[in-house]
This record gives sequence, structure tokens and C-alpha cells, in this order.
Amino acid sequence: MFATSLNPLPVDLSRIRPTIQALQPALVELRRRLHQRPELGFREHLTSELVAQNLHEWGIEHETGIAKTGIVATIRGSKPGPVLAIRADMDALPIQEENDVPYRSQHDGVMHACGHDGHTAIALFTAYYLANHPEDFAGTVKIIFQPAEEGPGGAKPMIEAGVLKNPDVDAIIGLHLWNNLPLGTVGVRSGALMAASEGFRCTIQGKGGHGAIPQQTVDSILVSAHVVNALQTIVARNVSPLESAVVTVGELHAGKALNVIADTAKMSGTVRYFNPELGEIIPRRLEQIISGVCQSHGASYELDYWRLYPAVINDAGIAELVRSVASNFVETPAGVVPECQTMGGEDMSFFLQAVPGCYFFLGSANPIKDLAYPHHHPRFDFDETALGIGIEIFVRCVENFCR
Ligand code: NI
Repeated sequence: MFATSLNPLPVDLSRIRPTIQALQPALVELRRRLHQRPELGFREHLTSELVAQNLHEWGIEHETGIAKTGIVATIRGSKPGPVLAIRADMDALPIQEENDVPYRSQHDGVMHACGHDGHTAIALFTAYYLANHPEDFAGTVKIIFQPAEEGPGGAKPMIEAGVLKNPDVDAIIGLHLWNNLPLGTVGVRSGALMAASEGFRCTIQGKGGHGAIPQQTVDSILVSAHVVNALQTIVARNVSPLESAVVTVGELHAGKALNVIADTAKMSGTVRYFNPELGEIIPRRLEQIISGVCQSHGASYELDYWRLYPAVINDAGIAELVRSVASNFVETPAGVVPECQTMGGEDMSFFLQAVPGCYFFLGSANPIKDLAYPHHHPRFDFDETALGIGIEIFVRCVENFCR
């Protein structure tokens, strides 16, 4: 049943593409409507409503209210066959938009600064295309509109709600518009694409006192300075130089006056890695270091460590399906980019742990149009030409997999 054992279908550019190009104005309009009304995780009510309303108008079977605001649309091909899922995230970020465009965010302090408005539009119009061309594929396509990717994570509750069951999903694909790649390119690779994302918070308890009488104190600032330094030895000395990992202390708060030795210091940080084995090694070393440094200075500590998202690991076969589809029609010299890993995290990883699949990056930057700001920037925006390319890749993956 799996496409990996099949030869890719011949690419006929006179098919599919003109139909998708004709959808472009409606696609852009929908994306801009979503962009104007961004909503934070698990509060995507207007977004979800708009998606459901379109699916309803188009006569596409769908279920709403999954994991609060999630939706699953089901589209059946003309004959029985495998089940492919396509996943899109719908949430926005707590950022004040600084773009001066007619479709700028109308929700104060909330912005689609990561392109999830585009993901939703691509997935919705992929549903529209497939529903109008059931003769082009066998089996079933499930389109999963997911809440809260930016945190605390909508993928896991959707899986727990059974979105990969009945009919059981054989494979899943998904994309992220990517301003780190130029428009017309696709970043896809087998194996690790994005890193596991974990966090920690640590309170170091010393003993406060007079800034000029240190011998009576345990200086929590000095202890935490040693901790911050020593934590960097994890990546330098406990991780193979051939592996990738990051330990970042992003917050450090201590002290209130220049002549007072602070009794407590609080720090928090993030840990990223690809290799699941590091998921055991890094937290263990982190605690050993904090514990050892604190003990040697007579301080105590409290440590809270949590795992947010596992690494995004692509299945070799499905990644090859996406790569072969993309390489057949991406026309720029850069083409398909295999070196596209990032230490960013994504809860698509939970879907990829449950079923084989592939997450890929769809190049969306266009510096000529000043559309190249990084993701999560208040001036982030992308070239909307990418939307149609996204639909075409999805549709061609469906045709190749579902036959
Ligand atoms: Ni994102």
C-alpha cells in the first residue's frame, strides 16, 4: 500500500497546476481573513468557525471541536485505498504586528507571525481540490486542523481524541512555510528535521547578607554564575561533536541592591537536541551540575525539568515521496534543499511518533518584496505565491500515495 514501493507518477504540469492557479485569488483572500483575526492556542474559535463554514459550504465531511478548536475533514477517493493525513496548525502568537498592510492583525497584541494562517489556507484549499477531484486518488485523505502548536500543544490531545483512527491513518504529511528558504524551494530530509524542545526552571537558595561582609553569606548570584558556565560543558563535553544540541539559559533573576548579597537566584532555560538518547543524558547532567555546584558552595536548589515536544523525525520512505514530488516541479536553481534542519521545535513530532510521515519546509521568503523577516518577528510576512505551491505538493503526494 505504501508509495515508497511504487514509482512516482509521471508529472504532467498541464494538470493540477492551472486549477490551483485559478484558486489563487480565493486562497489569498482566505489567508488574509485569517491573518486579520489571529487567535492564540486553544482559542482559535473564529478560525475554526471559518474553516468549518467553508468545509460545510463545499459539502466536505468534517468533525469540529476536537481538542477544543481542532477540526478533521475527511475526503474519500473514487475507490478503496490507503489513508493519508495532512496536518495544518491554526494558532497565532502574542506579538503586536508592525506590518503596515491592509490585512494586518485586528486583534491587539496577537499576530500570525509564524505563517499558520497560510498553513490553514493551504490545507483548506487542498481539501477543496481533492473533494472536487475524487477520481484522482484512491482511499481517504484526512485533513487535520490543529490548535495550539505554539504551546502548550494541540497535536497530542488530537491524537488522544482519536484523529488517527477510524479510518486508521497509514501516513501523515505536513508543511511549514519557511522564510529561512527562498520562495520556490522546498526543504525536506529523512530523519531529524527539528529538535526536541524541553525546558527547565531552577531556584538556587543561598544565604543573603551585607555586600561588604560576604563571609557570613552564601552568594546565590556567584553560585548561579558557576552553574551557567558549567551547564555549557554539557554540549561541549557530554555530547558527541558529531551530534547537535543546545543548552540555553534564557532567564536569570537575582538581587535587588548593589550592596546586598542575594539569597536566591532563579534561572530558566531551554534544551534542544535531535538524538533521543540525549533526552536521558542532558537532563541527568544538568541536575548533576546544578547539584554539584550548589553543594560545593553550600547552597541548595530546586529544579523543575519538563519535556515539551520530541524531535521531528521523518520517515525515510515518506520523506522520499515528498522529495521526489517536490523535485519534479520546483523550478528555481536552489530546488530541493536537504540541509534544512533547525533546532526549533514542533508538535508535529507527536504525529510522526504515532505514524510514519514527513514534515517539510516550504520556502516563502522574497527579499525583493521585503518579505523575508524571520518567523516570530513583528514584521513577519511571506510571499503568498507559496500557498499554491503548498497545495500542489500536497495534492501530488496524495496522488502518489493514495493509489
Ligand atoms: Ni510555526
